[in-house]
Amino acid sequence: MSRIAVLADIHANPPALEAVIDDLSDLEIDEVLVGGDLVGRGPCGSTVVDRIEELGWTTIRGNHEDYVLSFRRRDVPDDWLVADEWSASRWMAEEIDDRHAEFIDALPFSASAETDADLRLFHGSPRSYNEGIGHWTSRGTLEEHFEGIDESLLVCAHTHRPLKRELDGGMVVNVGSVGLPFNGDPRAQYAIFERTAGTGSWTVEFRQVDYDRDAMLKHYETTGFLEAGGITAHILKRELEQARPYLVPFLKWTEIEDVEPTFDRFDDFLSIFDPEESMMDFFNRVRD
Ligand SMILES: [Fe+2]
Ligand SMILES: [Fe+2]
Repeated sequence: MSRIAVLADIHANPPALEAVIDDLSDLEIDEVLVGGDLVGRGPCGSTVVDRIEELGWTTIRGNHEDYVLSFRRRDVPDDWLVADEWSASRWMAEEIDDRHAEFIDALPFSASAETDADLRLFHGSPRSYNEGIGHWTSRGTLEEHFEGIDESLLVCAHTHRPLKRELDGGMVVNVGSVGLPFNGDPRAQYAIFERTAGTGSWTVEFRQVDYDRDAMLKHYETTGFLEAGGITAHILKRELEQARPYLVPFLKWTEIEDVEPTFDRFDDFLSIFDPEESMMDFFNRVRD
């Protein structure tokens, strides 16, 4: 019976990744898979790509791999190449070099474990790396996800929130995020899978690992990311500090209110936003 670790959403955070690597070295693990979003939302993408390449773990592609590649190719709307709120994305696309870009561009959409053909990994869902599976996902949708795959264990990430859902004959596990959790717990999070002897059913252990977050916050300054990345880099730093999402709800809110995403507007947003409230409830409140 193999023990398989899956980690994802490292988001350019080397101290968090190193803490997970240390944690793994104390455990008997047969295989490690990486669920995408190595880069993006942070200043040290190149260090993370180098380390993952060196480890040789099976790795798939997340939506942030494609964001970074799109910016490198300048294959984005014209105003994203100049607007302030996209300066962080431009900076992150420049931070990696051609070799890193080649590595992430070769990553597949999905992978199975080599040591157990019953585990299948996607970044978001079998349909899209932008479709997060969470507590809001209906049972019917989960069943549709299983119709397209042969495996009984579907492992995913992207929402930055760990989750386990069981169905007849299948289990879905979201492993959470190593580098930028959104569940209020700032520790690096990942999961370990093992089959129960006899029944062969899967068990999952969610792990949380302390790491030097201050060292990561310092990278925001020493790399120049915080200064060059404007409001977006400041919001990403806040997400790291609070382990809660701010950037996506803020940008959506500026669209609804038809205002520019500036520092002042972010202060206005903070006065009404509760990161523990569901996004749906927040936007219903804003629209009322
Ligand atoms: Fe992510
Ligand atoms: Fe993602």
